[in-house]
Amino acid sequence: TYTRGLNPTVRMFEEMLAKLEGAEDAIGFASGMSAISSAVLSFVEPGDRIVAVRHIYPDAFRLFGTLLARMRIEVTYVDGRDEAAVASALPGAKLFYMESPTSWVMETHDIGALAALAKSRGIPTIIDNSWASPVFQRPLSLGVDVVVHSASKYLGGHSDVVAGVVAGSKELIGRIRGEAYPYLGGKLSPFDAWLLIRGLRTLPIRMRAHQASGLEIARRLRDHPIVERVCHPGLANLLPAGLTGTSGLFSFVFRDGIDIRTFADRLKLFKLGVSWGGHESLIVPGEVVLQQKAQPNSAMAFGVHPRSVRLHVGLEGTEALWSDLETAIDAAFEEKT
Ligand SMILES: Cc1ncc(COP(=O)(O)O)c(C=O)c1O
Repeated sequence: TYTRGLNPTVRMFEEMLAKLEGAEDAIGFASGMSAISSAVLSFVEPGDRIVAVRHIYPDAFRLFGTLLARMRIEVTYVDGRDEAAVASALPGAKLFYMESPTSWVMETHDIGALAALAKSRGIPTIIDNSWASPVFQRPLSLGVDVVVHSASKYLGGHSDVVAGVVAGSKELIGRIRGEAYPYLGGKLSPFDAWLLIRGLRTLPIRMRAHQASGLEIARRLRDHPIVERVCHPGLANLLPAGLTGTSGLFSFVFRDGIDIRTFADRLKLFKLGVSWGGHESLIVPGEVVLQQKAQPNSAMAFGVHPRSVRLHVGLEGTEALWSDLETAIDAAFEEKT
């Protein structure tokens, strides 16, 4: 067969992922963005309106603000924690696009309640489930119609593949497979599918390790006098319904008195990098995303704190990572004049 249509290695990955998400079917894509764009474009037409939660992934925000805007598709952003705001934005919308937890401020939503609101109005729902992975959150079981992933993150897990996947019912996946997938052409390559199959074999054990180290480091940062606040869903008394664990991605805000550039430069185990979900630890200062040239800038639009820092806690070991952070914090204290 021709590999844009059917390939046995890609199919094997799709079947594994469908099983993990509790989906009838799944389609692999060349990137998370091709998964997102193909899924979204399967539901909307010129003149339609989408409701989306705020703080969605920056390139999804740019897709909505550029290409979809050109197609006269309008997007209304809502605070997904505010069910009344979601309920009042939904009437007349053709799609509800969610991401929970979000990937900078880690806002969490009651996915089941939001999906029910959309369902009661006959509006299909898509969620980006990259942060939690199917190990900690299975949105289809909470009533969401379609799950998308950047498989470049935890599903791959080794920072050596860029890929995406969409999972859902046979009917919806069939619709995406019939139109957006072949014509937009963002197919998953067999070699990348092979890397993803390799990654899925250790997904549960990796997620538990990211959870343990991430939570411990988040707690120590919360208790550190130089930290104003930590955005990590695991620090709340309760996780939202349906989220059964936490991953290694979270952010925190430094108080004044730390030179964030020096902090970032002094880190040895945490490398500068915007992706996440792999074995290695990464850091991105909020200032960097606020200054991104590509427009529209979601960090500006939704308000990312200029003294915030996002960490991805990898698999190097909690104590080694904490010592790296402490050393860099000590080095970055600004001289008081
Ligand atoms: C939450 C989230 N969704 C989607 C994407 C897009 O995925 P990709 O880079 O594989 O296209 C990313 C990538 O950084 C992401 O962080």
